[in-house]
Amino acid sequence: MLRHKINPGLELRLLQPEHAAELFALVDANRASLREWLPWVDATLKVADSGKFIAEALRERAATRAFQSGIWSMGSLVGAIGHNRIDQAARIGFPGWWLAPSAQGQGIMTQCCQVVFTHAFTQLLVNRIVVGVATGNVRGQATVKRLGFKQISLLKNAEVVASGGVDHFIYSLVRPVA
Ligand SMILES: CC(C)(COP(=O)(O)OP(=O)(O)OC[C@H]1O[C@@H](n2cnc3c(N)ncnc32)[C@H](O)[C@@H]1OP(=O)(O)O)[C@@H](O)C(=O)NCCC(=O)NCCS
Repeated sequence: MLRHKINPGLELRLLQPEHAAELFALVDANRASLREWLPWVDATLKVADSGKFIAEALRERAATRAFQSGIWSMGSLVGAIGHNRIDQAARIGFPGWWLAPSAQGQGIMTQCCQVVFTHAFTQLLVNRIVVGVATGNVRGQATVKRLGFKQISLLKNAEVVASGGVDHFIYSLVRPVA
């Protein structure tokens, strides 16, 4: 998905090398909040780190193993969404997403997820989308529940974030019946 206009003020664009400075500035300005649930924030210390992330995402996209899109709201980058891994053999997408706090509370991520998951089911031909959300991440859980995900298991010590190891509720969304 190179570019997708969701509405006049909201757009997904595939992250490109020229977005590295804007992406880093967004992470840097919001690191205190983002580091609560995102393990990569503390390792993102300079523009080159965001550039490396984008370059790696583009390599993975070329092999249809992953992709990362930026979320632009009213012309400004406010977050990102993508598949961290696409398991083509099992036909499962493993997405991830985040928004700067100033862009939260408006339903932006719900709309972006709907676009990315429709693309996954119709273009990437996955049968299932699986995501882990930390048990304490109430806002993250509200989004997946709103989107119709069902909790399928609990993974203990799934990830290490700023506060230490966290457990994940594992959620699954199955391809809608046509
Ligand atoms: C997870 C995260 C993206 C959720 O952000 P969000 O803004 O709550 O996402 P949503 O799109 O689901 O928006 C829901 C909010 O918008 C409001 N809203 C307004 N219009 C809406 C609409 N048309 N549709 C849905 N929600 C709408 C809802 O009431 C809700 O606000 P509330 O929680 O204050 O009641 C954000 O908290 C985040 O980036 N967290 C850190 C990273 C993270 O946890 N990522 C997910 C790990 S899997």
